[in-house]
Amino acid sequence: MKLRLRIWRQSDAESKGKMVSYVIDGVSEDASFLEMLDVLNEELIADGEDPVAFDHDCREGICGACSLVIDGQPHGPQAATTTCQLHMRQYSDGDTIDIEPWRAGAFPVVKDLVVDRSAFDRIIQAGGYISAPTGTAPDAHAVPVPKADADAAFSAAACIGCGACVAACPNGSGMLFMAAKVAHLGLMPQGQPERHTRVLGMVAAHDEAGFGGCTNTGECSAACPKEIGLDVIGRLNKDFRKAAARAA
Ligand code: FES
Repeated sequence: MKLRLRIWRQSDAESKGKMVSYVIDGVSEDASFLEMLDVLNEELIADGEDPVAFDHDCREGICGACSLVIDGQPHGPQAATTTCQLHMRQYSDGDTIDIEPWRAGAFPVVKDLVVDRSAFDRIIQAGGYISAPTGTAPDAHAVPVPKADADAAFSAAACIGCGACVAACPNGSGMLFMAAKVAHLGLMPQGQPERHTRVLGMVAAHDEAGFGGCTNTGECSAACPKEIGLDVIGRLNKDFRKAAARAA
């Protein structure tokens, strides 16, 4: 199929960017979205032009590196799907596709479609860990965890930290990401020693990084490729109120 791509091109963090049009022909419907961009880049390189910079790593929906806003939607039109798992069979011959980077104050553009997501790293450094020794797998299994808590922790742990929640949020909030980590660790017995310092530290790092506040629009959860639910934000707010009261 033949497509028109309108892609955000920005040579570095300081430069002004703009949408640039490219026509690409012979796109296989079996190609993934990133493979389609690979073909475009091969053509650009062959023509002596600068290839389009974009993030990727695993290309199987687990690392969270891929991060494109496609036709205004983080990770594109298919629900519960990362950009790398989106396939060109979603499109028709003659389509025009707009491709942009994550748009958020806390995620500045580095080049073209690549943004700096190190603000997420700083949130994790502020509390996204446990200090309890968990031993080897049989030791960990010896710690009884209620099934409902284990299931909820596993669901929250599915967050791959891609940042689609931030890109989708009109406030540029990182609450869904942060709340998934707080829920994942706070539901487990091993996560209890830091439960309160964790939430205080992570919220402070979140605000320091320039992410906005949550106003319950729900766009974050709708855009999340791992379908993290808004309930984790309720849990974070509850933990934060308790931790703040204890610290007062
Ligand atoms: S490249 Fe790893 S999730 Fe898409």
